[in-house]
Amino acid sequence: MELKHIVFGLAFAFVSYIVVEWQRPKEGIQEPPALRAKIPFIGHIIGIATRGLRYFGKACEGSDEPIVTIDFLVSKVYLVNKSSAVKDVQRNSKVITFDPFLDSAAERMVGVSAQGLKLLTGKEKGGGDLNRKVVKAMHPTLLGPGLDVANRNMINNLVKSVDELASLGNKSFDIYAWCKHAIAVASTDAVWGEKNPLKDPEIEAAFWDFDSHLRLLLFNVFPTIIARKAYRGREKVAAAFVKYYNEGGQHVASELAQARWKVQHESGATTEDIARLETATVLGVVSNTTPSSFWMLFDIYSRPALLTQLRDEVREHALKKNDNGEMIIDLAAMRDDCPNLLATFQEVLRTHSNGAPTRFVTEDIVLGDKHLLKKGRILMMPGMNMNYEPSIWGDDSQNFDPTRFKKETLKQRPTSFMSFGASPNLCPGRHFASGEILGLAAMMILRYDITPIGGKWYLPKFWQGAIAASMPFPAEAYNVTVTPREEFANTTWAYKSTDGKGKFPLITG
Ligand code: HEM
Repeated sequence: MELKHIVFGLAFAFVSYIVVEWQRPKEGIQEPPALRAKIPFIGHIIGIATRGLRYFGKACEGSDEPIVTIDFLVSKVYLVNKSSAVKDVQRNSKVITFDPFLDSAAERMVGVSAQGLKLLTGKEKGGGDLNRKVVKAMHPTLLGPGLDVANRNMINNLVKSVDELASLGNKSFDIYAWCKHAIAVASTDAVWGEKNPLKDPEIEAAFWDFDSHLRLLLFNVFPTIIARKAYRGREKVAAAFVKYYNEGGQHVASELAQARWKVQHESGATTEDIARLETATVLGVVSNTTPSSFWMLFDIYSRPALLTQLRDEVREHALKKNDNGEMIIDLAAMRDDCPNLLATFQEVLRTHSNGAPTRFVTEDIVLGDKHLLKKGRILMMPGMNMNYEPSIWGDDSQNFDPTRFKKETLKQRPTSFMSFGASPNLCPGRHFASGEILGLAAMMILRYDITPIGGKWYLPKFWQGAIAASMPFPAEAYNVTVTPREEFANTTWAYKSTDGKGKFPLITG
C-alpha cells in the first residue's frame, strides 16, 4: 500500500470519527450545547482570527442558551451567553477561577523567572500564591485615602495635557494618540510617583509597543522573532523598573506601588521579577482607560444634542471660579451632581466593551443543576452578550442611550454589566479610572470644540493585536482639529478633588 493511501485512510477515519462524535445523542448531564459555526470545524477558528474577541458576541447572536460550548478542535471553551449563567459562575468562584490567568500572564506576558513563578503561583510545593496576594494588596489602595492621593496627582497632569491643546491652532492631530499620552502620563505618574519610569518618552513608546502587539507574545514560541516588537518593548520597560527599584522609586510613590513592592519583596521575590510583574501592572493601569477616554470623547462629540446637554450640566454643577479667576472643575460635584455625564460614561462602557472576563475550570462541576463543566476547560463571559441582553437592558439595547443608566429610569439594578468584569474579580481600578475619564471629558467639552478631518465622525477600523484592553481602539490615526471655545477664552484651568469622594456609584457585574 502506498503512503498516500495510508494518509488518506487515516484522514478519512479521523473525519468520520469527528462527525459521528458530533452527531451522537448524549444522555444525562452534559457539557453546554455546542454552538455550531457556519463553516464546519474551522469556522470558530476563522472567526476569532479575523474578529478577535468581538467574535464571541457575534457567534452567540440569536442563541437563547445561557451557556454554550465552542469547539476549537484542539480545545473547547465555554461561553456564557446570559446573565443567569454569570450568577452560577460567580456562585462557584472557588472552582471556576481567574487565578491561573494571573500565573500565565506572569510567565508568558512578562517572563517572570522559574523561581519567581513558583512564589507567585502557590500551586507547587513551597509556592506562596503571591500573585493573588499582590492583587489583594492593591484593593484598599484604590478605595480609601490612597485613591484620594492618586486622584490629586493624576489631575495635575491631566490639566497640563488639556492645556497643551490650546496652542495647536489649526494643526490636526491624532486624538487617539493624544489620549494615549495624556492617560499614560497622568495615570503612571500618579501610581509610580516622581521617579515614574514612563516619564521617559522612550520607555512610554516601548510600553505602547508591548501593549499593542501583546497577542503574539502570549504564544511564548520564539518571542524574539515572532513577537519582536512586544518582546523588545517589554524588556525595555522591565529594565526601567529594575532601575526604578534600585533607586528607591517605590518609596516615593503611591500607596498602590508601595503595597505591591512590599508584599512581593517580603515574600522573597527578586527585584528583577518584581519589575517584570510591574510591567504587566502598567497594562492594567492604562490599557483600558485610554480607549475608554477616546470613546467617551467620540460618543459625546459625535452627538451634538448630548454635547450641549453635558456642557450645560458640567458648567452649572461642577464648574466654579476661584478668587484668582481660575476655572475649577470639581470632581466630587461632577460625581454627585452630573448624573447625565456619569450615565454617558456607563453607556460608553456598555456599548463598546468587547472584553470577555475569563475563568479556568479547576474541577469537574455541574452548573445550575444542568451543565457539566469539565476540569481544565476555559470559560469566558463576553461583555457583548450580557451588556446587550434585551431582558435586562430592554428591546432597544442595541441603541446608544445614556438615560438607561439614570437613577430614576433604572427600574431594577441591571445585573451582569460586564465592562468592569464580574465579582469576585471586579476591577479594583474602576473608581480611579472613572475620575480620570470623566475629569478629562468634562474639561474638554467646556474648553474645546473638536472636528474630525473630513467633517464627520466615523467608526474606525479596530486594531486586533492588543488583548490587554477590553475596549477596542482605532487601528489607524484618528485625525481631528480642536478650537478653543469663545466662552472660556483667556482663562486658566484646574481641577479640585475632595478626600473621601473619589468612589463613583457605578453599576457593576
Ligand atoms: C475604564 C477603565 C478600566 C476598565 C474598563 C477595566 C476593566 C477591567 C476588567 C474587565 C477586568 C477583568 C475582571 C474579571 O475578570 O472579572 C479588570 C480587572 C482588573 N483591573 Fe481594570 N479596568 C479599568 C481600569 C483599571 C485601572 C485604572 C486599574 C488600576 C489602577 C485596574 C486594575 C485592575 C486589576 C488589578 C484587575 C484584576 C482584578 C482581580 O484579579 O481580582 N483597572 N479590569
